Amino acid sequence: MEFDSGSSVLFVGEGDFSFTEALSSRNKLASDVTLIATCFHRDVTERANVNIEKLRKRGIEVVLGVDATKLHIDGTLKSRKFSHIVFNFPHVGGKMKIHLNRTLLEDFFASSSCMLTGGGRVIVTLCSGQGGIPLDPEKRKWDDTWQVVLMASRSDLILRRVLKFDASHYSGYSATGYRSLEKGFDHSRAITYVFERGPGALNCFQCDPLHTENVTLYDGWCMNLPYFICAQIQRKVCSDLSTVPGQLCSLIHKQLSRTVLTQFKDYLLVNEKTEFRNLLQHYSRFLLTQAGKLIYVYPLHILKKSPFSIGTYFLIMYKNKYFDFETIFSENITLEIRNLSKSFHSYSKTLVWEDIICGSYSLPVADSNPSESSHSECMDELSMYAIDLEQLAEFGLDIERNEFWAHGHDVIADCHCITYSPSSFFPIEYVYDLSFWQCKAETSKDQAIQWRN
Ligand SMILES: C[S@@+](CC[C@H](N)C(=O)[O-])C[C@H]1O[C@@H](n2cnc3c(N)ncnc32)[C@H](O)[C@@H]1O
Repeated sequence: MEFDSGSSVLFVGEGDFSFTEALSSRNKLASDVTLIATCFHRDVTERANVNIEKLRKRGIEVVLGVDATKLHIDGTLKSRKFSHIVFNFPHVGGKMKIHLNRTLLEDFFASSSCMLTGGGRVIVTLCSGQGGIPLDPEKRKWDDTWQVVLMASRSDLILRRVLKFDASHYSGYSATGYRSLEKGFDHSRAITYVFERGPGALNCFQCDPLHTENVTLYDGWCMNLPYFICAQIQRKVCSDLSTVPGQLCSLIHKQLSRTVLTQFKDYLLVNEKTEFRNLLQHYSRFLLTQAGKLIYVYPLHILKKSPFSIGTYFLIMYKNKYFDFETIFSENITLEIRNLSKSFHSYSKTLVWEDIICGSYSLPVADSNPSESSHSECMDELSMYAIDLEQLAEFGLDIERNEFWAHGHDVIADCHCITYSPSSFFPIEYVYDLSFWQCKAETSKDQAIQWRN
């Protein structure tokens, strides 16, 4: 483990402090590297006390009772930033606690990602087989691993480097179990994982669970939401061609434009209780007063609670007197797909409209402009079709649902070929999971986030 001159390094979960003691001894570190060594428990063993004394004599700050999953609210640390945060051999103690160890990793990543300086790194060392990456010398079934890349990706941390952990570089280091009481463990083929923040990682200000903002829904209702949700909405992914939803919207729009005239409208924002039928009713006045033969397309975000998340849809609305389903959706979409998280080869796929439309709604209305109609009756009908973009990404492009919101991947559309490549070193899955912040927000200040209707 090497640290550049000027680095500020936080060690968490130190057992008996023998690692930081070994690292800081014999002038292995540049003189302007700042170390802070911490451990979970306040009561430490005699061996730990000896090491703590040595560390303090070298001017190294030692803090006891630091929970690696709550660094961002720790009294001593919360206002500081670090270039590196290191957790060697995290473990909740006891056997067969794989799910708890995954949670420990997930919560540690969520908390530490808020404590990094720009370009900072989170470094985790795990025993062979635990991490679940293809390079691991000990291969285990994915379900039997701690899924370290996935846990990190939930905080927008991307795996950038993988190193062998060589304990012989740290003479005096004695790997200790939980509470330093259990006997040591085998770290002979251990791996050190180096993570960096992805391009979309939330900054600390945004991470503050109490920071909320108002957003306005399609019908003028206002809702007060956690900032991270507002930031998601503001990304306007459907208009961003470097994202999966952006490419899908463009694909559908282009396909429709081959047969009909379309107009791309602004984003609609609804809450999960809104029925599509009511949405059509709401827009009926607008649609009826439009004279031209146009199909209106809208990107739609549906705000969901428990956990907070956003569903992304594409809506197609029109007056039936001008169009019928067969004309609009006459041609299926044929495209080439190259999903680099699955394979290097491309393959072709045909998307049938009936399969990708997840809901259709119609509304009989009095025709406000009967003179334009080729029919003599004064009644018309409005139609609305909804496409669930996450479902389409999964079914159409073979992109996992939880990769949908990810930052940092490449989506390139070239003629009929869509190439998708996630940016993580080992792209097992890359998730934008908001539940961590949600529970922080709910437990710390229930009234901060309210659904107004
Ligand atoms: C297997 S030991 C490794 C100790 C030490 N890092 C080493 O390399 O020898 C696991 C360590 O994780 C620590 N730990 C478990 N949960 C923690 C938490 N929430 N915050 C900080 N440390 C934690 C335990 O106290 C224990 O010292």
